[in-house]
Amino acid sequence: MKHILVTGGAGFIGSHTVDLLLRTGYQVRVLDNLSPPVHREGQLPDYCSDQAEFMSGDVREKEDLVRALNGIDAVFHLAAYQDYLPDFSKFFHVNSFATALLYEVIVEHSFPIEKIVVASSQSVYGEGKYRCILDGVQYPDLRPTEQLIRQDWEPRCPQCGEQLEVVDSDVVRVNPHNSYSMSKYTQEMIALVLGRRYEIPSVALRYSIVQGSRQSFRNAYSGVLRIFAMQLLGDEPPTLYEDGKQIRDYVYVGDVARANLMALEDARLDFCSINVGGGQRVTVNQFLRVMSNVLGRTDVTPMCTGEYRFGDTRHISSDIGPLKGLGWQPVGTVERSVVEYLEWAQKQDDFSNYATNARKKMRQLGTVRGGK
Ligand SMILES: NC(=O)c1ccc[n+]([C@@H]2O[C@H](COP(=O)([O-])OP(=O)(O)OC[C@H]3O[C@@H](n4cnc5c(N)ncnc54)[C@H](O)[C@@H]3O)[C@@H](O)[C@H]2O)c1
Repeated sequence: MKHILVTGGAGFIGSHTVDLLLRTGYQVRVLDNLSPPVHREGQLPDYCSDQAEFMSGDVREKEDLVRALNGIDAVFHLAAYQDYLPDFSKFFHVNSFATALLYEVIVEHSFPIEKIVVASSQSVYGEGKYRCILDGVQYPDLRPTEQLIRQDWEPRCPQCGEQLEVVDSDVVRVNPHNSYSMSKYTQEMIALVLGRRYEIPSVALRYSIVQGSRQSFRNAYSGVLRIFAMQLLGDEPPTLYEDGKQIRDYVYVGDVARANLMALEDARLDFCSINVGGGQRVTVNQFLRVMSNVLGRTDVTPMCTGEYRFGDTRHISSDIGPLKGLGWQPVGTVERSVVEYLEWAQKQDDFSNYATNARKKMRQLGTVRGGK
C-alpha cells in the first residue's frame, strides 16, 4: 500500500493525517471541494502540504470519485458535513450517500482498494451510557424540553427517575439522536457491511471531540475551543451552555492522526468500529480553566445564561480500552490542543467575531434555546 487518497484532506483532521502519511513515506492525494464555511471562498488553506496532490472535487459526484480513486491503494474517507443546523438532508447527502457512492464506484470499476478508513463519531452514542444505583446500566434518551426549560440538566434513570452516574460508552450500543450522528452511523454501516461483502477491509473510527490547530472557526458549530478563544481574546466573559458541568472527552488531533495510521496498517482493526478518545473526562468548566490559564486570564468569571443547545448530550466520554489494548495511546493533553489551536488561530486574519455571529445564527434557527 503506497498511494493513499484522503477525502476531506484539506480539513482539520484530514490535513494532519495527510502530514503524518507523508512523514511516514506514503504518497498522498487529497480530494476536497473546499466547502464553505469551513474554507474561506474556496481557498486551499496554506497549511496544506504541497507534497500531496490536491484534486478539487465533490465526494457526491461519481466522476470525481472515479478520477480520485485511479491508482490508489487505500482511502481515508474524512470529507463530511458537520454543522449543527436543521438542514437535515445535507448530512445524509454528504456523509451517507457519498460513502455508498464510494463503495459503488470501487466495486463498479474494480479498483483494487486494500483498505478504507471512515471517520465516524462519538455522537453515535447520543446521550451515552450511564449507571443507575437501583436499575443498573441505562441508555437514557434525550432530556425532555420541559426539563431543560426548568434548567434541570442531569439525565434521569428511564426506569425509576433517579440520578445517574456516567459510564464510558463502549461500541456495543448506539443511540444517535440528530441528523449528523444518524448520518455517521449510517456511514459506518455502509462501510462495514459493503466492505465485508466485497472483501474491502474497512474500519470505522469513532472520534471523540477532536482538538488542535487548523480546526475551522467559520461554521456555526465548532465547540468550546473556538467559542472560549474568541470570547477570552475579545475580553468578553465566556458564556456557558447549561451550567458548564457537562462532561466531555477531548482528543488531540495528533493522536487521531496516529489512530488513523494504525487503522490503515493494522489488520486487527479490519471490519471494526472502534473508539478514539482522549481517555479523560473533562467538564466544560475545567476546559475553560485550562484555556484561561493558557491565556494568563485567571480573573475570568464565566456567565451562565441558562441557554442550552437543542439536542445536545449532557455527558459523554468514550471507552478507549480496545484501541489501547492494541497498542495506541492518546498522548496529547487538553492544554497542548489549546496552545496549538491558539497559536494557529491568532495568525488567521479573519479570526474575529465568528463566535457572536454563530451564536446569533444558532438562536435564530432554534439550535440554541432557553435563557433570557
Ligand atoms: N472534528 C471533530 O471533532 C470530529 C469528531 C468526530 C468525527 N469527526 C469526523 O472527522 C472527519 C473530519 O472532520 P474535520 O473536523 O476534519 O472536518 P473539516 O470540516 O475540518 O474537514 C472536512 C473536509 O471535507 C471537505 N468536504 C466537505 N464536504 C465535501 C464534499 N462534498 N466533497 C469533498 N470534500 C468535502 C471540506 O472542504 C473539509 O476540507 C469528518 O468525517 C467528521 O465527521 C470529526
